[in-house]
Amino acid sequence: MKKVFSNWMQSLIAGVAVAGVLGVAYWSFVGLPENPTFSATTQTITNSDLLTTDLAPQALNITVYRTPTCGCCKGWVEHIKKNGFQVTDIVKPESEIKTIRQKYNLPLDLTSCHTSEIAGYLVEGHIPVADVQGLIAQKADIAGISVPGMPIGTPGMEMGDRKQSFDVFAFQKDGQTRVFNSYKF
Ligand code: CU
Ligand code: CU
Repeated sequence: MKKVFSNWMQSLIAGVAVAGVLGVAYWSFVGLPENPTFSATTQTITNSDLLTTDLAPQALNITVYRTPTCGCCKGWVEHIKKNGFQVTDIVKPESEIKTIRQKYNLPLDLTSCHTSEIAGYLVEGHIPVADVQGLIAQKADIAGISVPGMPIGTPGMEMGDRKQSFDVFAFQKDGQTRVFNSYKF
């Protein structure tokens, strides 16, 4: 009788222990969505977020075309690298860079010293990285953006404290242009 009782007690204790372990496992599993990081992630993912996430790695790849002798072009490449872009840096003769510009119908008066391609857009000249990011985020129906010439104080064109006011232009394949962003100093 004593033996039977102790066997029964052992089974009971073992049963309670197993139930306890399963219970902890169950609650830690069920409780997972209440973890703040986890629920924050599930709440913020929407279709458009997924789209942005999908595009992000691709959008960060930029191909820069520049001539071998241009120092300020290298300065701009450094600016864009420093801000998290993966840069493919291509040195080409001016005539070949011109061909790339023509693919996007960049108006002649919007030309600068170097050009680049990112996410299907042409990005011409010493454009601040914020405008490149803005262009990609907006997914604007344009061929590209440009800072014509080489305004002093733009990324890659730093000269001490000197800063010239300048505009970033958006251009379309049909030749239309508009001001995309303005910097006044
Ligand atoms: Cu330049
Ligand atoms: Cu340049």
